Amino acid sequence: MAPVIHILNGPSLDRLGAREPAIYGGATLAHIEAEARASAGDRGFDLVFRQSSHEGTLVDWLHEAGNSAGIVLNAGAYTHTSVALHDAVRAIAAPVVEVHLSNVFARESFRHVSMIAPVARGVICGFGELSYVLAVEALVALGGARAGGQHG
Ligand code: DQA
Repeated sequence: MAPVIHILNGPSLDRLGAREPAIYGGATLAHIEAEARASAGDRGFDLVFRQSSHEGTLVDWLHEAGNSAGIVLNAGAYTHTSVALHDAVRAIAAPVVEVHLSNVFARESFRHVSMIAPVARGVICGFGELSYVLAVEALVALGGARAGGQHG
């Protein structure tokens, strides 16, 4: 069975394409999923790709993915507020890469704080849809370093 990477997306990311394209670009979430799936598949990884605007659902999905090869997490606005997501990341073994399409540090000051970053393996932001592909690449490299990664 191939190792699995999970990509979890938070609130309003289902609106990509129509949502503030000057900030987030024109790509839809379906397009980002297709790119990430191709990138993971080329490297022998399966991909689970999900979006929810509900904090508790994201917590449940983090737990479900807790023993996978890794998790790419764009928690959207919950990045800046959620102790529940912070604790969920702490509660699992899988490495988590925090991603953002936009460069959050070049935006409003409330976006400069991340509840996820202190417990993430790393953070990638500001590269638009490429942020996701770079995060998958990082987890593939980590999985390789761990002799094929974990399953599940
Ligand atoms: C975002 C940045 C967040 O500040 C914002 O709330 C989002 C999207 C990004 O991908 O750039 O919803 O996570």
